[in-house]
Amino acid sequence: MDVLKTLRLEGVQSGTCFAVNEWSNDTSAGIIESINPATGELLGKVYASSEADYEKVLSSARAAFLEWRKVPAPKRGEIVRQMGEELRKYKDALGSLVTMEMGKIKPEGDGEVQEMIDMADFAVGQSRMLYGLSMHSERPEHAMRESWHPIGLVGCMSAFNFPVAVWSWNAFLAAICGNVTIWKPSPKTPLCAIAVQKICNDVLARNNCPPIFQLFIDNAENKLSRKFVDDKRVEKISFTGSSEVGRMVGAKVAERFGKCLLELSGNNAIIVDETADLKIAVPSIVFGAVGTAGQRCTTTRRLIVHKSREKEVTDAIVNAYKQVRIGNPIDSSTLMGPLIDEVAVQSYEKAIALAKSEGAEVLYGGKRIEGKGHFVEPTIIRAKNEMKAVQSETFAAILYVMTYDTLDEAIAMNNHSRFGLSSSIFTNNLKAAEYYLSAVGSDCGIANVNIGTSGAEIGGAFGGEKETGGGREAGSDAWKSYMRRQTNTIFYGDKATLAQGIKFNI
Ligand code: UN1
Repeated sequence: MDVLKTLRLEGVQSGTCFAVNEWSNDTSAGIIESINPATGELLGKVYASSEADYEKVLSSARAAFLEWRKVPAPKRGEIVRQMGEELRKYKDALGSLVTMEMGKIKPEGDGEVQEMIDMADFAVGQSRMLYGLSMHSERPEHAMRESWHPIGLVGCMSAFNFPVAVWSWNAFLAAICGNVTIWKPSPKTPLCAIAVQKICNDVLARNNCPPIFQLFIDNAENKLSRKFVDDKRVEKISFTGSSEVGRMVGAKVAERFGKCLLELSGNNAIIVDETADLKIAVPSIVFGAVGTAGQRCTTTRRLIVHKSREKEVTDAIVNAYKQVRIGNPIDSSTLMGPLIDEVAVQSYEKAIALAKSEGAEVLYGGKRIEGKGHFVEPTIIRAKNEMKAVQSETFAAILYVMTYDTLDEAIAMNNHSRFGLSSSIFTNNLKAAEYYLSAVGSDCGIANVNIGTSGAEIGGAFGGEKETGGGREAGSDAWKSYMRRQTNTIFYGDKATLAQGIKFNI
């Protein structure tokens, strides 16, 4: 297979990289199989990491940090710049691997690599802008400022649905900030992680850099992952996954006073008001709900439509769904690929059965597609916001449609969720748009106007409120959470004074 050859993934791979181009040959933790979710085909085999591997990674990462923190930030940026260049060269192959291993369609696989490239560019610029403030001291001949220093080891625990991009949001920022990132990818997408590690290793080797990116792949028992979360040597854990697991990760990291960044579940809603332009709204809703087969944390799961437009909107969406071609995501005509595995298909079926038992009405889809691969029909369900099925996150393309009368009611419905990741309103009413974005509007980390809930650009801070976990990654000033802030006060005079006017004469 060309893609595997281009990415140097032929033969059984090691899941542990503990130094630049140094891969473990410890086979004691068994094998993880990488399966194409569209075809059931075995893509490759990977040796899971052992406890000994884990220890090697941790000590090598610590040694790398002691070196890397001394490298000037713009020089660290230059290394990330070269990684961005390398990713440009491998974009097609890596995008295809994402498609083959995760199941998202090829343009989305390529899009994910593009997100990595954009993130590299962003991080390069940021490497010259790790700005701290300077303050005016209340005392004469004193100066005050804040400095930003690296924190140490950053643990990145990523999910199967974005097997490469989410790592880059963390790792590239962490790198320019002077940290070392240890990656623990999903065991469902091990080859993507190994491919990225190899690409980055090339740049590190060429520049004689310490191993600032390290990798270990835990098997499904998650023993090492638990150790990782508890490990005091890892200053920060950035975790992407369900709120259920995130709650445990957050508590464990807090217990040891580590830093934690949680990017968890969402139950993202789109409001379509009386004035919305359906030419814009319908494609955005369909991409939001069906893109990545509904397996994005930003997937549109609820559609809150003004009563006056219910029929028009549901007809248009049902009609659009009829045109969604389901199939092998590598084929250019496919718009929707498979779910990741059989467990995901069962969760889809359970959610639909639950919705029906609560009195919801299936308007489109609702069934698994028999045959090879984990395919299901994209599904539209007329439901009520308070239903249990509607209030839980099912990682599949199920869109619940409901109606409202007043904007306040629509906003209350949007906000009535345990999660608070992404949200949108489609409107041509300026006042409604601004109201929705105001303090009394959407309570989510992302709130858009005439744009869907998914497909965020890396330039903004990404993340959400409530049980979504509160973390912010990627753009804006997210870099600050990968550094420690130090306040410095300097005295350059001859007669020292204390703050607050305190006299202490000895
Ligand atoms: C995720 O699903 O974990 O906004 C991240 C988006 C993508 C990122 C999704 N840029 O849909």
